[in-house]
Amino acid sequence: MTDFLIAPSILSANFAKLGEEVDNVLAAGADWIHFDVMDNHYVPNLTIGPMICKALRDHGVSAPIDVHLMVEPVDRIIPDFAQAGATTITFHPEASKHVDRSLQLIREEGCKAGLVFNPATPLSVLEWAIEKVDMILLMSVNPGFGGQSFIPHVKQKITAAKALIDASGRDIRLEVDGGVKVNNIGELAALGADTFVAGSAIFGQDDYAKVISEMRQNISQAIR
Ligand code: DX5
Ligand code: ZN
Repeated sequence: MTDFLIAPSILSANFAKLGEEVDNVLAAGADWIHFDVMDNHYVPNLTIGPMICKALRDHGVSAPIDVHLMVEPVDRIIPDFAQAGATTITFHPEASKHVDRSLQLIREEGCKAGLVFNPATPLSVLEWAIEKVDMILLMSVNPGFGGQSFIPHVKQKITAAKALIDASGRDIRLEVDGGVKVNNIGELAALGADTFVAGSAIFGQDDYAKVISEMRQNISQAIR
C-alpha cells in the first residue's frame, strides 16, 4: 500500500513569518516541507539557501525537508544543505556536469537523493542513474515560479516514470511539482505519483487543513 505524501512548497508562504507558516502547514496535516532553492542563473528567480533551512530546524521543525535545488552547479552547495538539516536533496541533471558524482555526494552526506526532470527533459539519464536515486521529481511547470498552470503532457511522463520505477524493483518515490491542485491530485495519484508538491494551492487559501484534507480525500477516491 503506497503512502501518499503532501509536500507544501514554502515558495508561496509568507516569508515575513516563515517559521509560523511552516508550523501551521504541518499542524494542518502536511507530511514534508518542500524547499525551493533558486539562484537567478539556472532559473530566473532567487530564493532561499541553507541558512533558512537551518533556521527552520533551529525553530523546531522536525518534519522532512525536501530541498529542490534549482541552482547550477550543484556540488558546492550539497554539503551545506545536508548540514543545514535537509532530508532529501534533488537536482536537475542539466545543472550537474557529473550526475553520478552529485547523487553519490548527496547520499554520502546522509540525505536521500533525487533527480528532477523539467517538462521537456527526457527520463533517459535514469537508464544509468536509477541505482543511486531515491526519488524522481517530475516538473509539471517550468521551474522558477509558483502559481503556474499544470502542463498536461506530464501526465504521460508520470506513467512512464512509474513504469521505470516498477521495472527497477527499487523503492523510489515519484513526486510531481507544479500546478498541483485539489482538482487534479487524484488523477496524478491514479497515474502513479505518490508525493505531491503544492505551493499556491495551499498557501493561497486561508484554511490549510481544509485544502490538505480535500487533497487526501481526492487521492483516496481516485486510487480505489
Ligand atoms: C517551481 C517550484 C515549485 C512551486 C510550485 O519552480 O519548484 O515547487 O513552488 O508552485 P505551485 O504549486 O504554485 O505550482
Ligand atoms: Zn519545487
